[in-house]
Amino acid sequence: METKTAAGRVLLDCRGISKSYTGPQVLDEVDFSVDRGEIHALVGENGAGKSTLIKIVTGVTDRDSGELEFDGTAIPRSHSKKAAQELGIAVIYQELSLIPGMTVAQNIYLTKEPRFRALRLIDLRRMNDDAQALIDRYGFPLKAADLIDRLSIAQRQTVEILKALSDRASLMIMDEPTSSLTSAEATRLFDIIRKLKAEGISVLYISHRMEEVFDLSDRVTVLRDGRKVATLEKVKIDPAEIIRLMIGRDLGESDRGRRMTRKAGEVVLDVRSLSSPGLFRDISFELHRGEILGFGGLVGSGRTELVRAIYGIDAYDSGSIRYLGKDYRPSVRASIAGGIGFVPEERRLQGILAPISVTRNIGVANLDVLTKAGMVSGRRELQFARRGIALMNVKPDLPDMPVGSLSGGNQQKVVLGKWLIRDLRLLIIDEPTVGIDIGAKEEIYAHIEHLAAQGVAVILVSSDLPELTRLADRIIVLRKGRIVKEFDEGVVSEEDVLLASSGIVEGARR
Ligand SMILES: Nc1ncnc2c1ncn2[C@@H]1O[C@H](COP(=O)(O)OP(=O)(O)OP(=O)(O)O)[C@@H](O)[C@H]1O
Ligand SMILES: [Mg+2]
Repeated sequence: METKTAAGRVLLDCRGISKSYTGPQVLDEVDFSVDRGEIHALVGENGAGKSTLIKIVTGVTDRDSGELEFDGTAIPRSHSKKAAQELGIAVIYQELSLIPGMTVAQNIYLTKEPRFRALRLIDLRRMNDDAQALIDRYGFPLKAADLIDRLSIAQRQTVEILKALSDRASLMIMDEPTSSLTSAEATRLFDIIRKLKAEGISVLYISHRMEEVFDLSDRVTVLRDGRKVATLEKVKIDPAEIIRLMIGRDLGESDRGRRMTRKAGEVVLDVRSLSSPGLFRDISFELHRGEILGFGGLVGSGRTELVRAIYGIDAYDSGSIRYLGKDYRPSVRASIAGGIGFVPEERRLQGILAPISVTRNIGVANLDVLTKAGMVSGRRELQFARRGIALMNVKPDLPDMPVGSLSGGNQQKVVLGKWLIRDLRLLIIDEPTVGIDIGAKEEIYAHIEHLAAQGVAVILVSSDLPELTRLADRIIVLRKGRIVKEFDEGVVSEEDVLLASSGIVEGARR
């Protein structure tokens, strides 16, 4: 048992936690603890067991063995979500757990609404006032009467946090809370997390974004292959060391800031004055064979909308597109037939069929290639799946596994894999590595570069600045739906792109 200096400092204490689902050990004798008022980060590669540990603590799944104690109370091997909640353990989910069509106040006080004593009717006014008081205490930009449907993901997260506060949670668990937030929203969340800490609330935080982890945490625990390899104190947190502990090797120097080059050669895609009211305006660019064209900009700058229109998912209003030298009217069907691949941003929702095997998930996306004389050969489908699995290094490498049983990052790899094994002329990828660990990212980058070297033209939308500056040959920055900057020569740093994205520069520095 990990005891800190003063007795009673430990809030959550996990000792020797082990778990296996069907096959291999997912958690192996993990000792882990969270102190009162501490921000504790949990890091590790995709599939290391982070989410599983959280699920055990929160009563979503049972452990096989080990002891769990919260606030001095032993937690039985099989406990429920409700029991965990009553003890003061809250999980801040990203989506789906709030009820749309209801207000912020209704969601916060769901099942515990204040009532008039006599009639047992809900006291709406008091509920709103209480909710607003809570909101104001934390200075959140929300109104108690706002409908959930109207809120951004970041605001919904805030409502989750309020809900936990009103439940008097003493531990808040966040599993990759920033993966769909803009950087400004993430910064606001960090402020909230620090405020929680100041009130003595503990935060257990999972993230693949190392800079967040280093900034925020008091301690960092590293899991690798289901084992705890270290818990480091803030003062001893060395980024390179943590990465080494996570992936078991050095990552090597990645050259930050890369020289931009304008490629000559065949124009694969020629976009002229493309506009869609309210989304993007007057977008023109050329993309050459073997070129990786990066799109930078803040979330909401119109990049996703633009690439969806080019691929044919959404219509555009005016402008023209030429693909491989011919006029092109985009439709998903024409894009697939024409060798255009598209990896969407919202992979969690659009990309996978969770209960279905990896093989079928990859197969369904490649039916056109796999179908011969109206039939899909199971053998060829399996071959295809194995290629995707190997290419993306999906772990475990079991084609029959339902995709829903893979860890979050490995699900992402399956979605990427099913597109990257096709013969493509043009690949459009939107935020390819959200949720993917730092070692696996490098492998994906190498593969994208390999495709480009073989002549595939690539459009890369990314909010990950190191990723953008590392991969792109040219970078176009969108802001409020317009091109505000194109970097096509000289060395471009992350800062250059960020400044352009925020509308600060405009040629002030190169
Ligand atoms: N329901 C399940 N059935 C079978 N295996 C599962 C199930 N849920 C998780 N696993 C396996 O447990 C291992 C750990 O998964 P977990 O989700 O805890 O990883 P993680 O550290 O959260 O990874 P990521 O960073 O990718 O989210 C993975 O190998 C995963 O395939
Ligand atoms: Mg996870």
